[in-house]
Amino acid sequence: MAEKRINVTYQEYSSVEEMTPEDQALVAAALEAQKGSYSPYSDFQVGAALQLANGVIVKGANQENIAYPSGLCAERVAMFWAGANYPDVPMETLAIAGSDHGVLCESPASPCGSCRQVMAEYQKKYNHPLKIILVGSKRIRKFSCVEDLLPFIFDSLTI
Ligand code: THU
Repeated sequence: MAEKRINVTYQEYSSVEEMTPEDQALVAAALEAQKGSYSPYSDFQVGAALQLANGVIVKGANQENIAYPSGLCAERVAMFWAGANYPDVPMETLAIAGSDHGVLCESPASPCGSCRQVMAEYQKKYNHPLKIILVGSKRIRKFSCVEDLLPFIFDSLTI
């Protein structure tokens, strides 16, 4: 038996001003995207902004439904829209901002497992690392690829 360890590296910023201008713009877009949230059941507003390799920023927001599983997270709204409308353009960076009752979470909201799996799919499709930025009011975290949020990705049907 061998005990093994996985290391996750990420950057943590205490303020958006510490980030590159491009990342600052994406964070601003994720915050802006929260306005599109339809969340009457949870009152948890999530905005996502997805930077594509062609410079376009695609926004998404969580869409809830009285039949709860019929709703969709902000991240998947953005990724599926980009996948459908720019199928040949790699996805570069996905910024996510979550607010509880309209107040941005101090520690950033973290994407659910299903969204991480969808991120993994597009990262594989484009053979291009998908960076992720999690936006909170007290700290912002940046991951350089999906593996750092989802180790042991299920990404192959063969051995
Ligand atoms: N939600 C997202 O949109 N993204 C996440 O990463 C976590 C959760 C949404 C789903 C639901 O509308 C609300 O937040 C509460 O779970």
